[in-house]
Amino acid sequence: MKGIILFASNTGNVEKFASQLTDKLDGSFEIVNIKTTSPNNIKIREFEKVVIGTYMRRQKADPDIIDFIIRNRDILLEKDVYIFVSALEAGGSYEREIMLSFPDKIRDTFEIYNVGAIFNYDGLRYIEKVMLKNIASRQGKTIEELQTFNEKRLDKFAEIVNTTKPQDNIEKKKED
Ligand SMILES: Cc1cc2nc3c(=O)[nH]c(=O)nc-3n(C[C@H](O)[C@H](O)[C@H](O)COP(=O)(O)O)c2cc1C
Repeated sequence: MKGIILFASNTGNVEKFASQLTDKLDGSFEIVNIKTTSPNNIKIREFEKVVIGTYMRRQKADPDIIDFIIRNRDILLEKDVYIFVSALEAGGSYEREIMLSFPDKIRDTFEIYNVGAIFNYDGLRYIEKVMLKNIASRQGKTIEELQTFNEKRLDKFAEIVNTTKPQDNIEKKKED
């Protein structure tokens, strides 16, 4: 089985997840960074499974990832596509943020799985620290508690890719 992991990473976490996923996934996966590869050179047709990963900023997924999804929508809809985000789970609005980022038809067809957020707080700019502090205090949480990523969630996503069809996951979600 030949697959592709297409990702966008702002500060390196999603890139790390993409690399870790190649060890966790069955079959042979090519890793492609959307920021360093021309979209015309990404031949999605050649791959059986398509994994797409993105960070979130300003309540949105990476614009190049979304652009790629929109341009390749029809081919993607014929494939087994698995989407993961690394997003803050700040209150009820976070699912809405994820949903608003992706085109309707894509999210109606494929589950969007959140592995949780992680960041290096000390390395952030002042304005970014203030933003995260505000989000945390609105939720009555600490900065630490905003970092909900853990390896088990990545393992769970890998298991979904390895053992399920995307259509089944969407059906299951509708039933829940
Ligand atoms: C300054 C900052 C702003 C962020 N803004 C959002 C956001 O608006 N929505 C969200 O769901 N996650 C947000 N996140 C969480 C990131 O998506 C998460 O930390 C992710 O792991 C970053 O991945 P990267 O290192 O590959 O860029 C933000 C993180 C930081 C540090």
